[in-house]
Amino acid sequence: MNVIPFTPEISVAGFDCGDSDLNEFLLEDAMHFYEKRIANTFILEDEGKVVAYFCLLNDKVSRLEITNKRWKEIKDSFPDGKHFRSYPSIKIGRFAVSSDYRGRNIGSLLMDLLKDQLFEEQSSSAFRFITVDAYISAISFYEKNGFKLLKEKDENEYTRLMFFDMLDI
Ligand SMILES: CC(C)(COP(=O)(O)OP(=O)(O)OC[C@H]1O[C@@H](n2cnc3c(N)ncnc32)[C@H](O)[C@@H]1OP(=O)(O)O)[C@@H](O)C(=O)NCCC(=O)NCCS
Repeated sequence: MNVIPFTPEISVAGFDCGDSDLNEFLLEDAMHFYEKRIANTFILEDEGKVVAYFCLLNDKVSRLEITNKRWKEIKDSFPDGKHFRSYPSIKIGRFAVSSDYRGRNIGSLLMDLLKDQLFEEQSSSAFRFITVDAYISAISFYEKNGFKLLKEKDENEYTRLMFFDMLDI
């Protein structure tokens, strides 16, 4: 299995993760988001079949958005430096595994590949955290993969903001 950037040549017709918004994003919006420089999508493929996908965009973890307790923890992880009101992050905009491959550790494998890809990249712009607006039903999946909740309560009832510290790799 390989992780490859999503291009128009890759056929994603028939991808079904059981969530219509996430299916629709890959079928209809992913390329548009790439062209408009809003988010980049990557595909996990197995012999030409789309097994899973995720997309990434820039983000920040901001003092104003999270609980005092969590902010203290984050600040404490920068013991020697000046403290800031926010820290640079990368957001997982979408993350989905095809229903045909569910529960076989593919999601966790893909999360490891994603973290490795970001860790190795050392691109021109730095970031410390990975964030995600996790579906309530997927919180245990993200916790299993080292993510923690950032807030006690989120504005919307369908997702919770979570984060992963790249220095935990
Ligand atoms: C959530 C998702 C990515 C997990 O992928 P996966 O390949 O099934 O995950 P893994 O096999 O690596 O891990 C499964 C673990 O996650 C947990 N989990 C949480 N939500 C789950 C879900 N909806 N389906 C399956 N497992 C889920 C299970 O408890 C399981 O833990 P266990 O191995 O200790 O039993 C996948 O189920 C999916 O694409 N769901 C629909 C879309 C979605 O919710 N995406 C997240 C958007 S924020």
